Amino acid sequence: MRLSLLVCAALLTFGCEKKPTEPKPADPKPVADVKAVTDGKQVVDPAKPDAPKPGDDAILLGEVGSLTGPEAAFGISTRDGIAMAIDEANEAGGVKGRKLAVRVYDDQSKPEEAASAATRLITQDKVLVILGEVASSNSLAMAPKAQEAKVPMISPSSTNPKVTAIGDYIFRVCFIDPFQGFVMAKYAREELKFNSVAIFTDKKSAYSEGLTEVFQKKFAELGGKIVGIESYAKGDTDFRAQLTNIKKLKAQGLYVPGYYQDVAVIAEQAKELGLKTTMMGGDGWDSAKLFELGGSAVDGSYVSNHYSADDPSPRVQEFIKKYQARYKTTPDSLAALGYDAARVAIDAMKRATELTGPAIREQIASTKDFPGVAGTITLDEHRNPVKPAVVLKVEAGQFKYVSTVAP
Ligand code: PHE
Repeated sequence: MRLSLLVCAALLTFGCEKKPTEPKPADPKPVADVKAVTDGKQVVDPAKPDAPKPGDDAILLGEVGSLTGPEAAFGISTRDGIAMAIDEANEAGGVKGRKLAVRVYDDQSKPEEAASAATRLITQDKVLVILGEVASSNSLAMAPKAQEAKVPMISPSSTNPKVTAIGDYIFRVCFIDPFQGFVMAKYAREELKFNSVAIFTDKKSAYSEGLTEVFQKKFAELGGKIVGIESYAKGDTDFRAQLTNIKKLKAQGLYVPGYYQDVAVIAEQAKELGLKTTMMGGDGWDSAKLFELGGSAVDGSYVSNHYSADDPSPRVQEFIKKYQARYKTTPDSLAALGYDAARVAIDAMKRATELTGPAIREQIASTKDFPGVAGTITLDEHRNPVKPAVVLKVEAGQFKYVSTVAP
């Protein structure tokens, strides 16, 4: 407690104003308000001053997320999902008679910051488990640190296969890109009946590059033709030159496996250039920000994703109800997967014979039939779950459920 008060005092000294780059939440979210970023970029939760804090007798978990920068919406939703899971576990008595607390660091959507936040959580905060990251490039930067220190890491939503391949301490609770890429390629070929597709890839992102490779291979295997691939780099703002080249290809579809912020700008510029092709993407599109930034330019597109808020199953609807009551907004797949990742970690800690990295690791590895909101989780020998994906269509600024594809 005393320690956290000191942290707060330091926060006050440096001012608790919001960073200018932080997007404003669409609705007031009591716990979503990232009040401040300290020297160490640690985020405290001002809405829950009485929640257990690092330094109490609480069991400490670590979290690394993009709370600012171009992927801020990912980190904010994930943090909110995790916070809800932690609070629920505490209300139900905690773990081994102790409460849980989570220390969150903002990596500003940068891999090098994610890596140093992981190191900090391990060496300084001595957390038992690390939750994060969303973006595969950031998880890839963190994972070697966790692996070396034997601190289990669970990525809620990084889908690039290389993430968990880093070692036996690295897990995820989402499907992987060879499946996600296949789902969209199959949908494009068999449902949309496309013969020709162009791809626009982010060459700076492990996620985008991985999905490009899979889509290209699968679409061709299914008898389609990839008529061209253009690339951009995260941070670019003018995509017109590449889009002009793409327009000349006259493809029926354009696959853009990027993140929402870039995708929104790409869609707007494509519209402005009169490029009338159906856009398709992956989970990286998932944020309400896509519609705020992209407007009607993203209408008519298709994406693969982890979960749909339209899913009538009681497990999903109950989660949505609780989340809406708490945050006044509908959870996206990041929130669902953050919630699932935290619950898998908590479940493993409950079963572990002792609270050490190796003992917790063993129990995470044996996670079986766990009732996740974004699908039931059984981890395979590569520490990946095998789960269905959904296909969603963008209609009037919303994702609409289209179909579910089982692996
Ligand atoms: N799968 C993406 C990645 O690996 C991250 C992501 C997951 C983004 C879910 C949005 C929704 O980089």
